[in-house]
Amino acid sequence: MLGSAVVKSAPAGRDFVAVTRADGDLTDSRGVKAIFATHAPHLVIHCAAYTDVDGCTRDPQRAHRNNTEATKLVAQQCAERGTRLVFLSTDYVFSGTKTQAYEEDDKPDPINSYGESKLAAERAVAELLDDYLIVRTQWLYGPGGKNFVSAILNRAQAGEPLKVVEDEFGSPTYTFDLAQALWLAVASELRGIVHIANSGHCSRLALAEAALQAAGLADTEIEPVKSVDWPSPTARPLHAILDNSRWVQAGYSPLRPWQQAVESFVVTYFSR
Ligand SMILES: NC(=O)c1ccc[n+]([C@@H]2O[C@H](COP(=O)([O-])OP(=O)(O)OC[C@H]3O[C@@H](n4cnc5c(N)ncnc54)[C@H](OP(=O)(O)O)[C@@H]3O)[C@@H](O)[C@H]2O)c1
Repeated sequence: MLGSAVVKSAPAGRDFVAVTRADGDLTDSRGVKAIFATHAPHLVIHCAAYTDVDGCTRDPQRAHRNNTEATKLVAQQCAERGTRLVFLSTDYVFSGTKTQAYEEDDKPDPINSYGESKLAAERAVAELLDDYLIVRTQWLYGPGGKNFVSAILNRAQAGEPLKVVEDEFGSPTYTFDLAQALWLAVASELRGIVHIANSGHCSRLALAEAALQAAGLADTEIEPVKSVDWPSPTARPLHAILDNSRWVQAGYSPLRPWQQAVESFVVTYFSR
């Protein structure tokens, strides 16, 4: 989902190659070496991950292979070739128990396998490379992938009942807004970790309501539920809001408010 937005948002004239699973499995070291040998990149934006959070809980080894080991292989190739690596990570490295927004230096404390596998990947990147940027983001939505906003609208359009968690908070982030920021980030002097998400934050329930409103489906009934009552094998961070000040202090504009971004996505891809 994010990878395709990065490709579509590439600045004019930028020479790049989009690599997908069809080019090789990133858990296979020979495959990863072959991809680097073929393309000899100066820079890598590594968006691939096993993002099925419940799947990661059920199969932590698969999470470790696809999120940690695959990222390690990519980072090793970058280290050997002096290639800058931009690695996508997540608010799920945090427990979500902090009342204020999380800064980059806050101590990670993941509470599920997905978060653990992404944190271990972050640590591998930092250990193997000097020229790297770990971009933590959250609650991604956009065309071409499974995401909360699309799921809500698809259910509402199909007339299916909606139950939405009311006590989980985050910053919904539009893949195209993040992709534009990533193209700035790759060319920047930024090193280490940076948090990039659309501005502001909300509950899952408020996000669903905003998406329905933008789609002209504001009269759809939603049953609010507590996260403890949501049928999932995974503990999720309830308040893992990312502080974006490092991005702004580096001289970049904050991403637009989440409400505007949701409206833009819905109007473009879900107009009736
Ligand atoms: N989605 C979110 O809400 C969210 C929030 C915070 C951070 N992030 C991070 O942002 C990045 C992009 O997320 P996304 O939602 O765009 O992901 P996505 O839609 O699930 O896409 C991930 C892609 O990675 C590929 N992939 C997974 N394992 C692979 C492997 N071993 N070899 C080759 N390709 C592999 C997948 O291929 P298959 O489909 O064939 O497996 C898929 O095309 C990820 O790093 C994710 O952790 C996402």
